[in-house]
Amino acid sequence: MKCRICGKNAQVHLRQHNLALCRDHFVERFEREVERAIRRHRMFDRNTPVLVAVSGGKDSLAAMRVLHRLGYNVSGLYIHLGIHEGVGYSDLSLQKVKKFQETHGLPVHILHLEQTFGYTIPALVHRRRQQVPCSQCGTVKRYWMNRYAVEHGFPVVVTGHNLDDEVATLLANNLRWDTGYLARQAPFLPSTHPRMAAKAKPFVYLSEKETALYALFQGIDYVRMECPFAEGAKSIFYKELLNRLEERSPGTKLRYYREFLRFREEVLSSHTHPGVELRTCTVCGMPTTLEVCAYCRLTSRVGTQV
Ligand code: AMP
Ligand code: FES
Ligand code: ZN
Ligand code: ZN
Repeated sequence: MKCRICGKNAQVHLRQHNLALCRDHFVERFEREVERAIRRHRMFDRNTPVLVAVSGGKDSLAAMRVLHRLGYNVSGLYIHLGIHEGVGYSDLSLQKVKKFQETHGLPVHILHLEQTFGYTIPALVHRRRQQVPCSQCGTVKRYWMNRYAVEHGFPVVVTGHNLDDEVATLLANNLRWDTGYLARQAPFLPSTHPRMAAKAKPFVYLSEKETALYALFQGIDYVRMECPFAEGAKSIFYKELLNRLEERSPGTKLRYYREFLRFREEVLSSHTHPGVELRTCTVCGMPTTLEVCAYCRLTSRVGTQV
């Protein structure tokens, strides 16, 4: 197969676009798509300090790398969750983040939950006698991404969510017709509270395969292991189902997502999402819909300070 742009040997075939590209033209197209998503959704400009939440995985490290290459003002934040589970997951992820920082010369802040607050995600969950910590872990990660950004002067937090992540979440939200979640599932959520950073996902139109190839071509070494708690998670099953649909009909994921965004804009945002009134958490001062925020309710059980 030949690259459609230059005619050299193609190294990538994007079935959903029926497009074969050499390495250089793949990278060029990838970066153009990221820039286009940032502009289309008015995420941020080159003067805005942007905090990229990096997990040590391919998507978020690729996000940091591409934004830097495009001339944006990026810093990273890694949250060490204290997940060991016999495989040293958090320590391994941290190693990859540190290596990235050294190789690519980009600043990454490290927030170590155990060292700073004395708790780990497994401990938080163990004490609550629950089996799967993912939803609590999500609460903790979102809270610290936002709080860190607000307290360190970053108006925007970027995450590495890609098209595959977004359609898996969309399917889950669709199956429940959860209009609240559907209305909040957006490539960009502006700030609606003085202590809330905007949230941006510049990879929503790029598949997991594309972000993996970009990471590979940029020489990014990343953690390939899934979080040990994610095993058997519903989102993985939904991804498998969507991969089968994509296999049979290339382009399904992108169409599903684009049509959802159109629907969301035309119907959902005006009809079913009146805008939740935000208050200020009486414990920590961060935004919440209740009197005490989800993070403070969760961590009060392990007696940590905020
Ligand atoms: P996940 O919820 O694990 O699929 O991750 C979604 C996004 O959240 C990633 O692409 C990162 O941007 C961010 N993220 C996940 N884990 C961490 C972490 N430990 N520290 C900072 N950001 C993270
Ligand atoms: Fe949070 Fe797996 S990363 S439970
Ligand atoms: Zn080419
Ligand atoms: Zn709080």
